[in-house]
Amino acid sequence: MTRHEELPIPIYSSLDPVYGDGSSLEEAQLRFDNLKSKFIQVFGHPPDVYARSPGRVNLIGEHIDYEGYSVLPMAIRQDTIVAIRMKDDGYPENLIRIANVNDKYSMCTYPADPNQEIDLKNHRWGHYFICGYKGYHDFAKLKGLKLGPQIGLDVMVDGTVPTGSGLSSSAAFVCSSTIAIMAAFDQNFPKKEIAQLTCECEQHIGTQSGGMDQAISVMAKTGFAELIDFNPIRATDVQLPAGGSFVIAHSLAESQKAVTAATNYNNRVVECRLAAIILGIKLGMKPQEAISRVKTLSDVEGLCVSFAGDHGSSDPVVAVKKLLNEEPYTTEDIEKITEESLQSIFVKSQSSLDVIKAANQYKLYQRAFHVYSEAKRVYAFRDTVSSNMSDDEMLKKLGALMNESHHSCSVLYECSCPELEDLVKVCKDNEAFGARLTGAGWGGCVVALVKESIVPQFILNLKGQFYQSRIDKGVISNNDLGLYVFASKPSSGSAIFKF
Ligand code: GLA
Repeated sequence: MTRHEELPIPIYSSLDPVYGDGSSLEEAQLRFDNLKSKFIQVFGHPPDVYARSPGRVNLIGEHIDYEGYSVLPMAIRQDTIVAIRMKDDGYPENLIRIANVNDKYSMCTYPADPNQEIDLKNHRWGHYFICGYKGYHDFAKLKGLKLGPQIGLDVMVDGTVPTGSGLSSSAAFVCSSTIAIMAAFDQNFPKKEIAQLTCECEQHIGTQSGGMDQAISVMAKTGFAELIDFNPIRATDVQLPAGGSFVIAHSLAESQKAVTAATNYNNRVVECRLAAIILGIKLGMKPQEAISRVKTLSDVEGLCVSFAGDHGSSDPVVAVKKLLNEEPYTTEDIEKITEESLQSIFVKSQSSLDVIKAANQYKLYQRAFHVYSEAKRVYAFRDTVSSNMSDDEMLKKLGALMNESHHSCSVLYECSCPELEDLVKVCKDNEAFGARLTGAGWGGCVVALVKESIVPQFILNLKGQFYQSRIDKGVISNNDLGLYVFASKPSSGSAIFKF
């Protein structure tokens, strides 16, 4: 049987395979109708084709995908739909026009030039589409596809994944854009290739993200979370236990991954690389060899495990504890070990150079400790789900793993914030089996595992104990509460619609 990551993106002529039936189908029908009529209103003709990709919630495995480790997310119902039409008679030549059904986002116009530089200093929402546009062209070139002249595109977007929420609105947008462009050119490829391509696309925005968000958005299946492996990308279905439900709750602190990259997200990627290089050197590699060969902590895991073996363990954390200093490293401390300046180690990566410019110390012990221990928790989660424990025992064990993950993110990786800490506590005080920040952190959402039968009461309690004071202060309105806290079942991945 073909594994589902080998299959191309499904093409549907009706909405029900993705949106099911009943009220969700009706809601989707309204969105598509509205998208089409706005498209006609703005561009004067209907779109050729539509693509949709969902947001995601990561259940466990935070900040380890870019270190080569497996993660365990599921797709959520909220998604981004991109309607697209290629240039034909009467279109402005060589222009990409990107509009949004939401008036908050004004129309962005770009040249139809795949080699254009994205102006990272001036962040605009349309940049994410251009990431997909550039990425698709690079990919098509690699595949030897003939692309013909540079063709203008008209694009209209409708997204329901809340932005800055840690639920991957950016991946939903980049994936739906890339797939819409691909479909407009009448192409389709195996999902795993699109997952890889879209991950590379999003790096044009200046974050050195791993591939989790795009992989789950493209490859998700209704009813399952997925264990996502990298190098090569692979998705394995994970059936969640009956009787439990995941509630997603927004801390209302916005997490702007792209804007804060130099001090937050990319900073951690650089710290992990430095930790890996230093572990490599301490475990016998020549500094030059470590700098050129070691990219991630998974590259030196084998060395760490054999070191641990000499100390009666198989846990790479033993090497971290014995070989790295708990005190933060200064630039001088690191350069003494690497025998090369940080400037020259990262010379090929502008976004890493931006990190070095902004940083004055590096917490290598804490970051490596988090990555190795979080990687183990992902497998413990998967093994728990497939064990023969009772559902109740299983939910308790999964909750405990989620709590450990949050503690590690908060204390060792320092990617939490006061609002997330408050919200996690409120969840735990209200009988969640476990609760943790999800996604990059520094704001955004919490995911809590809750007994299915108490979900409505749980949400009410969150309202009273976390949201009400914010409603009173006018931060959010009572009517919008459902956008910020909801239970979610695993939804399906990217799709193309041709009606
Ligand atoms: C963001 C990135 C992902 C992943 C998470 C943290 O969502 O895009 O690749 O690194 O943060 O787990």
